[in-house]
Amino acid sequence: METNAPKRRDNKKSLRVKVISLGNAEVGKSCIIKRYCEKRFVPKYLATIGIDYGVTKVQVRDREIKVNIFDMAGHPFFYEVRNEFYKDSQGVLLVYDVGLRESFDALDSWLGEMKQEMGSQANMDSIVFVVCANKVDLTKRRVVDEGEGRLWAESRGFHYFETSAQSGEGINEMFQAFFSSITDMCENGGKRPVSEVSVGFTKEQADTIRRIRSSKDSWDMLGVKPGATREEVNKAYRKLAVLLHPDKCVAPGSEDAFKAVVNARTSLLKNIK
Ligand code: GTP
Ligand code: MG
Repeated sequence: METNAPKRRDNKKSLRVKVISLGNAEVGKSCIIKRYCEKRFVPKYLATIGIDYGVTKVQVRDREIKVNIFDMAGHPFFYEVRNEFYKDSQGVLLVYDVGLRESFDALDSWLGEMKQEMGSQANMDSIVFVVCANKVDLTKRRVVDEGEGRLWAESRGFHYFETSAQSGEGINEMFQAFFSSITDMCENGGKRPVSEVSVGFTKEQADTIRRIRSSKDSWDMLGVKPGATREEVNKAYRKLAVLLHPDKCVAPGSEDAFKAVVNARTSLLKNIK
């Protein structure tokens, strides 16, 4: 299978890589990059027009890495400009604003756009993804919590970082992990090392937690029809309890999901004759 291995290596110790930033308009992609490269924050919104390009050099262990950064515009208007730049990336920064749920929900469609543009040769295993839950400094307007963001990221084998381009929180740590993983991947023949983000939970557990979080009532949470019998409720409960029991499940949010399931079952059984 094709990999996105870097095109040119100047010598054994230097490496040239391409990274891109993705996410809705105004989530802070450009500010995150600016904070890292220029150590400053610009409060005024200056929308990226199409693409911004920059180069930075970083040191990872004994290697010098030349990083080509393609900072994409998030606005749908720039799709035609963006779509040419997905190919040959070794790293992707996926950014959302923790105060805007739609920017978090949009991450799936950003991945979708990327896959579509990369075509049938797309090999997502040869790309390091980092999810940035950005603007964590604005605590009062936060609507997407850490557990939810981490679950989305880690269930896909992506890194997760809480960041603020405004205060600088998480920015250096995030970029260090990002570049060091890209270097590991390149040294591993262009394949993302499997153990790199060890999640320790299954996709089924992650999906179930997500479903429980967004369920509209107790019936929905247990996955039974309104009016279900005691047996049906207990059966559904047992299945979920085995899947999510905190002794067995280490997925972020599993404890809360487990408690919610216990409470849902209790309240349903109270009202079933
Ligand atoms: P497009 O280029 O249009 O796709 O947007 P972008 O994702 O690059 O957003 P940009 O970095 O331009 O930031 C958008 C707005 O959010 C600006 O007004 C920034 O000052 C603000 N902003 C970015 N990051 C943060 C942050 O961590 N905290 C706060 N409080 N504001 C931020
Ligand atoms: Mg921008």
